Amino acid sequence: MSQQFDVIVIGAGPGGYIAAIRAAQLGLKTACIDEWKNATGGPAPGGTCTNVGCIPSKALLQSSEHYEHAAKHFGDHGIGVKGLSLDVAKMIGRKDDVVKQNNDGILYLFKKNKVTFFHGTGSFVGGTADAWQVQVGEQVLTGKQVVVATGSSARALPGVPFDEDKVLSNDGALRIGAVPKKLGLIGAGVIGLEMGSVWRRLGAEVTVLEGLPTFLGAVDEQIAREAQKAFVKQGLKIELGVKVGEIKTSRKGVSVAWTNAKGEAQTLEVDKLIVSIGRVPNTAGLNPEAVGLKLDERGAILVDADCRSSVPGIWAVGDVVRGPMLAHKAEEEGVAVAERIAGQHGHVDFNLIPWVIYTSPEIAWVGQTEQQLKAAGRAYKAGTFPFLANGRARALGDTTGMVKFLADAKTDEILGVHIVGPMASELIAEACVAMAFRASAEDIARICHAHPSLSESTKEAALAVDKRTLNF
Ligand code: FAD
Ligand code: NAI
Repeated sequence: MSQQFDVIVIGAGPGGYIAAIRAAQLGLKTACIDEWKNATGGPAPGGTCTNVGCIPSKALLQSSEHYEHAAKHFGDHGIGVKGLSLDVAKMIGRKDDVVKQNNDGILYLFKKNKVTFFHGTGSFVGGTADAWQVQVGEQVLTGKQVVVATGSSARALPGVPFDEDKVLSNDGALRIGAVPKKLGLIGAGVIGLEMGSVWRRLGAEVTVLEGLPTFLGAVDEQIAREAQKAFVKQGLKIELGVKVGEIKTSRKGVSVAWTNAKGEAQTLEVDKLIVSIGRVPNTAGLNPEAVGLKLDERGAILVDADCRSSVPGIWAVGDVVRGPMLAHKAEEEGVAVAERIAGQHGHVDFNLIPWVIYTSPEIAWVGQTEQQLKAAGRAYKAGTFPFLANGRARALGDTTGMVKFLADAKTDEILGVHIVGPMASELIAEACVAMAFRASAEDIARICHAHPSLSESTKEAALAVDKRTLNF
């Protein structure tokens, strides 16, 4: 007899495992199915984010930042480092340990919250509203409601499959065994910049080929310009407006034919090539046809604003649906769906999802960019404050960048906050809170911020909206 559940969640990435935990907390009998295998074939819940995304990339960003600081910046503090060395295998091993701690943490949370976990591929078999059947291994589970959270995978260039040795996706990019002399990246998006930074800091000569003529087109233009300047100064070669042609791999490495923005033919010879040109939703193995789930032209599961699919009782969240492919967006949707299933009123404010790029300087933003406000014809005021004028940033030895506020010209309501600089990932949270409470720039300007702290730059940028900065 098949096991019956109130909720079956397929996928245990940030969207799925959080949805399962929240559903169980709300008293629903919940199963979560995930197919990810660790090195010994055992379960590794946490999805892309935990296994080959957010967590391992931040572990390597941290390690490589320590190395670069020791190599280039400790001297400024009067600290001499003789015989500095790099053990890439140990660095990768530490990253793997961090991943495992997170995998184990999720298994523990499933136990604690009484979520029944199944290791394997979940495939729809059929069923009717309120009794959907999902197969995992030999078992068929029945669920009154099903939440699909199957995530996404790296998009390959046509005709250039990932071999994870020479042509790498995010997976291979996170376990390169030795620092390549020359590394190429296709796509100057979030992965391109984060992974490019890791391997550049460790000593690789890094070239990034980007198809679009503008750098980080979705980022506020002023912030993107500042970031680009910093990356180029660090030695990252970024070519914009390129057309990538034939890619040939050999025992020695990879040869990429490309044309630059002027239309001139070029060749890039590298030891390894990371292709980071976006991601595609995962529905292989899910058998969505068995229940009539509709997909859009990108292969994402079609859902409404509340994550309801075209089939009653079946929901979908995270990277497998529309919207930004971010772990915290997936989590918010997971919580909201579990609450809706339990008869509550879950809510996600899609206008207030922060973005962070964990390079150095970090880039973080929430809300509208200046170019979006201009395009919408909205009257706004802008205020910026450079970290150069912040005492804590000077003490840190990291004064690159700025905080930028955009506020409504009449009401002073904050419409967007953009940061490039140290700890932007942490500073952006204040902007999210302020905007969730529909605060004005004046509200932030009147709040006492600790001294000396980077967050004083946030207050000063809010003051700058009305041209009242105190320290600049
Ligand atoms: P996923 O995390 O992809 O999880 C889906 C899970 O479902 C996987 O375990 C998969 O194996 C499983 N699955 C798929 N099909 C089936 C099936 N039929 N049966 C059973 N299981 C199945 N986002 C951030 O917010 N911050 C970051 O710093 C960040 N860094 C990133 C760095 C990299 C290199 C990459 C690639 C991504 C990064 N992301 C980051 C994006 C983030 O990883 C995703 O947005 C997030 O993982 C999406 O969560 P999800 O639950 O929708 O899907
Ligand atoms: P991306 O969408 O961020 O960037 C892809 C880049 O590749 C774009 O700039 C695009 O113009 C370019 N491109 C596309 N096709 C190309 C081609 N044929 N030739 C040259 N350039 C081309 O995608 P990326 O970096 O692969 O990351 C995928 C997603 O993963 C991100 O969008 C983000 O949602 C998530 N992510 C989030 C992180 C974070 O939050 N810090 C970190 C890493 C990934």
